[in-house]
Amino acid sequence: MRFYPHSFTKTLNWKDEYSLGIQEIDDQHKLLLHAFSAVEDTIKQDKGWSSIHFSIVELKALARMHFSFEEALMRLFGFQDIKEHSSEHEHFFVKLEEIENHSLRNSLGAEILEFLHEWLTKHIRGIDNNYAPYILSGASVVRSDASRLKQSPAA
Ligand SMILES: [Fe+2]
Ligand SMILES: [Fe+2]
Repeated sequence: MRFYPHSFTKTLNWKDEYSLGIQEIDDQHKLLLHAFSAVEDTIKQDKGWSSIHFSIVELKALARMHFSFEEALMRLFGFQDIKEHSSEHEHFFVKLEEIENHSLRNSLGAEILEFLHEWLTKHIRGIDNNYAPYILSGASVVRSDASRLKQSPAA
């Protein structure tokens, strides 16, 4: 699934070391960092509450889609630590909702940017980096399903 409208020739804040080797996931992470850059721009350039607020709304929407995609992938591949991973996603999502509400009445400062950037890059390099090798090594669940299909009565 490719939920982003277009590809980016340049993604701010992206470093090659963030790559997990799964193209779709890397593309989604680039998109999230791109959305973070938009939040960063609107805050640093003091573009007004509505631009700032809706840049947070967009980041939150993308985060929700990406988290759902990752969790579905982990479920499909039978990854055991999905519970811990999902709760990290949920925790971040709740924080994003708080920031979104806060942005309606208050200005957002550098500490919010620091928190968002730190969380995204730490999560990608940390816990996301844990499930990627498991998926890249081949899914036991998918493999056993495939072998069962080959042994169907019609074969
Ligand atoms: Fe994740
Ligand atoms: Fe991720």
